[in-house]
Amino acid sequence: MWGYVVSLGSMQPYRGRSSGDKQMGNKEDQAQRLLNGAYALKNSNDNTRYYREFAPIYDEQFADALGYSYPQTIADVFVSEHAAGEDVPVLDIGCGTGLVAQYLVGSGEIDGVDLSAEMLGVARHKCVYRDLYCLDLTEGLGEMPRNYGGVVSAGTFTHGHLGPGVLENLLAVGRDGALYVIGINAEHFHNAGFEGAFSLLLRAEKITEYRKCTADIYRGSTARPDQAIIAIFRKSVALR
Ligand SMILES: C[S@@+](CC[C@H](N)C(=O)[O-])C[C@H]1O[C@@H](n2cnc3c(N)ncnc32)[C@H](O)[C@@H]1O
Repeated sequence: MWGYVVSLGSMQPYRGRSSGDKQMGNKEDQAQRLLNGAYALKNSNDNTRYYREFAPIYDEQFADALGYSYPQTIADVFVSEHAAGEDVPVLDIGCGTGLVAQYLVGSGEIDGVDLSAEMLGVARHKCVYRDLYCLDLTEGLGEMPRNYGGVVSAGTFTHGHLGPGVLENLLAVGRDGALYVIGINAEHFHNAGFEGAFSLLLRAEKITEYRKCTADIYRGSTARPDQAIIAIFRKSVALR
């Protein structure tokens, strides 16, 4: 039968489903519900509660089910931009279950920071991080080191999570000249005023070499067209 199904946010031609397709559809529907829940969060308390439940199923029922390619893209951009042996150690902002670090193995020591103890618990089991820090990045940096040569992030600058106000905190963790590869959901980038925030940082000479590129967040972008803007820049050497 021909028709149209509104699935994963876009209209796709539909010919009816085999039982294999149905199973796949159920998985995608569940993953989509998890994603919608994450986008609806409003503050850090919501995030803490949501990711407590999400942590044990995040990799399989969200990342694998939706073909979440964003962590690998961020890792690939970092690897292609970094100066070997210099832009380390690396800090993964909102590291969650550790998907970015899995693609950075061999690029030097990597630490992670996240609000959710449960997400960090999953990351710890993968043994890909040197140190993990549990803190709310909207509140400050606590006892975190301030000497990172590289700072990366996937999936954390998005609706209901982190906004441009946290960029100053990010700069504080990097040493002079540190390389930043920060993924920002494209809609969030425009709605929350990231362009203006980066312009201010450039004008104040707090960052240099600022560039942007666009990437799909999910493999097979016709099914889920969400995109990220990846901001690539360095912390200015003179910044204090
Ligand atoms: C969509 S997950 C991304 C995780 C991982 N980077 C990835 O790509 O799979 C967003 C992460 O941001 C974290 N997060 C949300 N708000 C935060 C905050 N205020 N401070 C630190 N981490 C936060 C959540 O706990 C969650 O692990």
